[in-house]
Amino acid sequence: MRHVLYSQQFDRSILDALFRRADEFRRRMAVPSEKAALTQLHRGKTLFSVFYEPSTRTRMSFGAAAQHLGMSVVATENAREFSSAIKGESLEDTIRVLCEYYPDVIALRHYEIGAAERAARYSTVPIINAGDGAGQHPTQALLDLYTIHQALGTIDGLTVTIGGDLANGRTARSLAYLLAKFDANRILFVAPDSLRMGNDIKDHLREKGVAFTEESRLEDALSESDVVYWTRVQKERLGPESVHEELHAQFVIGEAQLDRMKPQAVLMHPLPRLEEIPPEIDPDPRAWYFRQAGNGMFIRMSLLEWIFESD
Ligand code: CP
Repeated sequence: MRHVLYSQQFDRSILDALFRRADEFRRRMAVPSEKAALTQLHRGKTLFSVFYEPSTRTRMSFGAAAQHLGMSVVATENAREFSSAIKGESLEDTIRVLCEYYPDVIALRHYEIGAAERAARYSTVPIINAGDGAGQHPTQALLDLYTIHQALGTIDGLTVTIGGDLANGRTARSLAYLLAKFDANRILFVAPDSLRMGNDIKDHLREKGVAFTEESRLEDALSESDVVYWTRVQKERLGPESVHEELHAQFVIGEAQLDRMKPQAVLMHPLPRLEEIPPEIDPDPRAWYFRQAGNGMFIRMSLLEWIFESD
């Protein structure tokens, strides 16, 4: 059974295959007759989409991916309030009950680190970690890496700035794990002292021989970077509002910052964005974040198919 729990579970050959298939889905979705044909591929299968935390992109793109492959979707959003979790039911019991309803795969977003792994222990079908608190977001990392490949034609030998709230940002953590799979990448972590990348990731990078630095100033990293992966401050996981305001002010990518970036660099963001990337820079060709979000559906189509290959 192919659970998707951590980004580091994927090796390079699986990533290559997922990206090739995502390319094919992108091409076929643009042709109406081909798009219709895709709905025959996994007809009869059902995705259960179980989200205990808010989501726009992950939830909707998983639902769209499943439906474009001909699957049905059974969904609960805001399960923290609108499921029997509010009555005190454990995640483990919920998963055991859901498995009685014949899902073929369950996409789970939860507010606790390790929730997907716990769910996988009780599930009779594959669990996809669609974000577990400040833990990981492996499917986001897949689409992020896919976007880098699409934009630059390679995932080797790159200097990648990953910045923002790195202490709570699960997308940044998952991306760092995946970048470590490729050759000669260098990562520049940019974060305020209070929100630096966790030691678990840094230890992993050292173990894999991946060069990285930690900076507290964005300006020093911009001109060297092939990719700037910017993230929001995770207000929902932080303390008083005043702290966020201060952080927002320090970590904005505006026109001045864009001027320092390489002409072919790629500016990415997992979204939602707040003040850290103002809309004025959206027209710049280096601003990839909406194309990046669009890639989420193709990569999730590819991933669902990969999961079913093991049936
Ligand atoms: N990037 C991402 O996970 O967005 P959502 O929270 O909207 O799913």
